[in-house]
Amino acid sequence: MHQTHPVSSDENISKQSFIDRYKAVRARTVDICSKLKAEDMVVQPIEDVSPPKWHLAHSTWFFETFLLSAFSENYKVFDTDFGYLFNSYYNTIGERVLRANRGNLSRPITSVIMRYRAYVDSCLTEFLENTNPTQEQIEIIELGLQHEMQHQELLLTDIKYILGMNPTFPRYDVNSLVDTAVENETGFLSIAEGVYPIGYEGQGFCFDNELGCHKVYIHDFQIAKSLVTFNEYIEFIEAGGYQDFKHWHAEGWDWVKKNQILSPMHMYKVNGEWMRYSLSGFQKVVGEEVLVHVNYYEAAAFATWKGMRLPTEFEWEVAADNLKWGKAWEWTNSAYLPYPKFNIAEGAIGEYNGKFMVNQMVLRGASGATFPGHSRKSYRNFFHPHLQWQFSGIRLAK
Ligand SMILES: [Fe+2]
Repeated sequence: MHQTHPVSSDENISKQSFIDRYKAVRARTVDICSKLKAEDMVVQPIEDVSPPKWHLAHSTWFFETFLLSAFSENYKVFDTDFGYLFNSYYNTIGERVLRANRGNLSRPITSVIMRYRAYVDSCLTEFLENTNPTQEQIEIIELGLQHEMQHQELLLTDIKYILGMNPTFPRYDVNSLVDTAVENETGFLSIAEGVYPIGYEGQGFCFDNELGCHKVYIHDFQIAKSLVTFNEYIEFIEAGGYQDFKHWHAEGWDWVKKNQILSPMHMYKVNGEWMRYSLSGFQKVVGEEVLVHVNYYEAAAFATWKGMRLPTEFEWEVAADNLKWGKAWEWTNSAYLPYPKFNIAEGAIGEYNGKFMVNQMVLRGASGATFPGHSRKSYRNFFHPHLQWQFSGIRLAK
């Protein structure tokens, strides 16, 4: 990781503001879950979707394992089983529940997990108050906060899947604006060819996958100022986009056929009318809203149908200063690969990003579910090309 020191050990004010920030980020996770019922907390309808209860515990386990157990003298783990239950994918740390089995964890019950959160929060706050944390410790806590913000977005997409796949379409929050952004930009931005710097440079936090500023040659290109809306995508559907192999990658076409896909996730045609499930409920599609829940195959097929393409992640980053991004994650035409100077950190933290750099595509930007300020123009999100359940949309390039 790479960041400035948000706390100088002799500055109690900045230490207090760091503690306040820690508390605020942690509280938002609980707040997101506060609108759920007890039964919603446990289900795992597909392997990719983790139970909300698991997110609450796993984000806590991160601080317990990487900070308190590692650095706080006399720290007693809350429950010795939790390492096995709530480790996500860290082989350095040890064995764990299979991802697909997270929904089997009816125990520990949610109230115990809430006590776990409170216990870790109080131990961590105490640790910060009573010691002069080292740069390494501060960086781990900061990473834990950024990790928790990522899980907040996953929580919202997982909650949407859990409720949206329920035949009664229960609402999450009638006032939610997370997945109902309206697009009001039009036209294309032209970028001149040249050599451009790519990667994070600055004094704030960034993930290791953004580091190693390097140069990339970009040819002349144009990039849409707007994200694709439901109206535009429905044209593709109605024109038989899902019935014609010629728009699709071979893998994408196999995916369409095998799963009998007719539309993006959470979209339904009912009595001739397009409907969708959003976090604010089951409702008519508003055509001007930003399309979400397409996978990479769909994004690429739509672009091909339009006679255009997706931007590469480098083109996106070069254009980003002049784009109003942040309404949906944007699939790029770039495979998720290490930058030329990428380094894998020592120990478990080194498992955070590097080992996922195969068979996934990069998404850039942010969505309405992203923690405010969490993303930046060098931020690299990534998912497997077949996955639709994130707030992922399309920006065209040519
Ligand atoms: Fe995680």
